[in-house]
Amino acid sequence: MAEIRRKLEKNLSNDRYQHTLGVAYTAAALAMRYQASIEDAELAGLLHDCAKEYDKKESLSIAEKSGIRFSAADMAAPQIWHAIIGPVVAEKKYGVA
Ligand SMILES: [Fe+2]
Repeated sequence: MAEIRRKLEKNLSNDRYQHTLGVAYTAAALAMRYQASIEDAELAGLLHDCAKEYDKKESLSIAEKSGIRFSAADMAAPQIWHAIIGPVVAEKKYGVA
């Protein structure tokens, strides 16, 4: 988890990284409250925006290379692309299977 934090700090803008830490903290607190895996929740929080700072071209390239086909509705909403390609980025860039 520490290595993922280091990579995120390096790869994300400071604002996005600070937001990410807050989401990870909140996710961990919710997991504690609801008896879910604190580690899994923290990891999900850390990585939830790992693909958010890619531009459209990069996002489409990642999707294409990983076999993801955006629907017409997806294509009309590039602000959600990071949620679709995020799992690919989490695996390939951050080593989360
Ligand atoms: Fe976010």
